[in-house]
Amino acid sequence: MSTTTLPSSTAAIVLEAPGAPGSVLRYAHIAIPTDLADDAVALHILAAPINPSDLSAVQGVYPIQMAPVAVTGGSAFPEGTTVRVPGFECAAEVVAVGSAVSDIAVGDWVIPNKGGFGAWRAHAVVPESEVLVIQRADEAHSLKVADAATMIVNPPTAYRMLRDFETLKEGDVVVQNAANSAVGRYVIQMARNLGVRTVNLVRDRPEFDALAADLTSLGATAVIRDGDLDALKGWFAEHAPQGARLAFNAVGGASAARMVEVLGKGAHHVTYGAMSRDPVPVNATALIFKDIKMVGFWMSEWKKQASREATVEMYDALVAAIRAGEVIGPEFEHVEVPLSLDDATEERQAEVVANVAKAGSSFLGKKILLVFPH
Ligand SMILES: NC(=O)c1ccc[n+]([C@@H]2O[C@H](COP(=O)([O-])OP(=O)(O)OC[C@H]3O[C@@H](n4cnc5c(N)ncnc54)[C@H](OP(=O)(O)O)[C@@H]3O)[C@@H](O)[C@H]2O)c1
Repeated sequence: MSTTTLPSSTAAIVLEAPGAPGSVLRYAHIAIPTDLADDAVALHILAAPINPSDLSAVQGVYPIQMAPVAVTGGSAFPEGTTVRVPGFECAAEVVAVGSAVSDIAVGDWVIPNKGGFGAWRAHAVVPESEVLVIQRADEAHSLKVADAATMIVNPPTAYRMLRDFETLKEGDVVVQNAANSAVGRYVIQMARNLGVRTVNLVRDRPEFDALAADLTSLGATAVIRDGDLDALKGWFAEHAPQGARLAFNAVGGASAARMVEVLGKGAHHVTYGAMSRDPVPVNATALIFKDIKMVGFWMSEWKKQASREATVEMYDALVAAIRAGEVIGPEFEHVEVPLSLDDATEERQAEVVANVAKAGSSFLGKKILLVFPH
């Protein structure tokens, strides 16, 4: 076991009851166990991103529960209040290990291997089975914190969706909406690496040309304003009259329906997100005469079904691709969470909560990464 002394409480962003992120989230100090069970690892969480799924969980509309913990201090809630810690993913450094832990060592970097991990806290003590090592202490630390902290949600979603529905061959076309999202950017790059073309729909904005140039630099074949059905159909008529093999839908509503129109016979239309919260309409003729397969994908379900070996194999491939620069992550704004109550003035607390809530805004152009300093 390591000699590191664990704190008995730690800084976290928490909520007592679901609701709008800007209204229900608070800065608080929460209890952490000081006795390290034999099979436990103690972690210093380095960074945790804010994903749409985290904000859905805060709003109470995501089917994974967050574990309850007790507040020990801070101005937000009275001591002893039971709260929940959001955050499905992070990168953490191991600071102590229980006496029966043999596969994980102090200094290793780990990522969660469990839904509802509660990543928005500076420290955690969890069973070793709830984490996977992503970088050994003695490895050259070539993985960036932001890349390690964002490894389990978005890159594997892009990776799986490109493999699990169609056997794509060079020159095939994938069409996707919300193409400037983190998932969309990974799809563009992973497809490029497979020799697969991507047609990318993004909402119109004053900086459309700059965004299109950015996505093109990642390997996007075409970037089209979502809503411009003529441009979308025109691209396919000219470059791929056989239609797309896959559509990736993170939006729903009319945007999802437009992509159906450019799918080839027998293709898959995969819904993995619901940013507009509108239902996915489907025209019966697409199902009957084009045999379009309307399906959904959820990374958490894949992980539940997959063996630990398959999971490790996929992450090894993703880490290797990211280390080699074959795929790069999105842009992040770092938001530092104060560790000590002395530093957590009311203004700082309000600022952190506002930055978390901001992550759900339209046209933000970057992701928010919570950073927990040493
Ligand atoms: N099923 C799964 O296993 C799985 C795994 C990972 C992610 N996801 C889902 O994938 C989606 C993207 O996640 P991410 O982390 O990659 O996103 P992100 O980087 O945070 O970006 C958010 C994206 O959503 C778009 N958007 C926001 N509000 C919108 C609205 N009302 N209508 C249309 N588009 C809107 C944004 O476009 P603008 O720039 O135009 O605002 C941006 O492209 C989310 O729905 C997420 O829940 C699902």
